[in-house]
Amino acid sequence: EEQGELVWRAPVVTIMGHVDHGKTSLLDAIRKTNVQTGEAGGITQHIGAYQVEQNGKKITFIDTPGHAAFTAMRSRGAKSTDIVILVVAADDGVMPQTIEAINHARAAKVPVIVAINKIDKPSADPTRVRTELLQHEIFVESMGGETLDVEVSAKTGENLDKLLETILLQSEVLDLKADPNRTAEGTVIEAKLDKGRGPVATVLVQRGTLRPGDIVVAGSEWGRVRALLDDRGVAMSEAEPSTPVEVLGFQGAPAAGDRFAVVETEARAREIADYRARQKREKAVARQTT
Ligand code: GTP
Ligand code: NA
Ligand code: MG
Repeated sequence: EEQGELVWRAPVVTIMGHVDHGKTSLLDAIRKTNVQTGEAGGITQHIGAYQVEQNGKKITFIDTPGHAAFTAMRSRGAKSTDIVILVVAADDGVMPQTIEAINHARAAKVPVIVAINKIDKPSADPTRVRTELLQHEIFVESMGGETLDVEVSAKTGENLDKLLETILLQSEVLDLKADPNRTAEGTVIEAKLDKGRGPVATVLVQRGTLRPGDIVVAGSEWGRVRALLDDRGVAMSEAEPSTPVEVLGFQGAPAAGDRFAVVETEARAREIADYRARQKREKAVARQTT
């Protein structure tokens, strides 16, 4: 495929950390502070991914519903994250899944920003968190290292702006570019079968621009894009690189971590999907007979 002009794209940020350290709360808080006042109350988040704008620059956030999707994406060689926000609760410190997240980020060679959360709590001890991180070779700036860290509270909203600024600072040193003028491809973040709407896939567009009417293949599923929806359920006419979007129109639900790509014809889409489905079945049979 011909290579068009590469243009700046938004950093894709994945929130990781130990259970209950505040990943979802932090995402919700960032989103609430960032949307126009008056709108904030009525919004329900449709997907675990959204974009915000800070000083005219976009940032894409993805909530990990566990590390499964992240691991699946990585094992498929699809680098879908530019920056990992490692959330560590200041009252709880480094825990097993914190260490897991550090290892994931390291294996994927993705820079980490540490968000020391819950600093509103009387028992919060951010210094202890930094010291514990040292044991896992995360050296924050104040301890002579290079890892950026921000003390935040998802509850009070303290320092959320600073966190966004830090993300933009970190992304400046990453050369984030993509070609919007080519057929779209990317990664499935999550997918489900919705009673009313049929198969619904949340995808991250990584190259090209996705539009309604496009024919897509993801894993062993395919479909024609009936609608693209943002995190508020609002229809979009197109999704550029780094945009997370809900895709309606798949014949069946693809799997988290599947790559998706736009193809020319329905016949081609069916052919690829059928081939992969056959491969899957053969692998399953091979596993049973060995
Ligand atoms: P899992 O997705 O289940 O791993 O949890 P999580 O990391 O998404 O944490 P979640 O956002 O569900 O928060 C867990 C609990 O911590 C909830 O009761 C939150 O209200 C609380 N919490 C999160 N952030 C803060 C904070 O900054 N301050 C205080 N005091 N509580 C917080
Ligand atoms: Na939780
Ligand atoms: Mg959560």
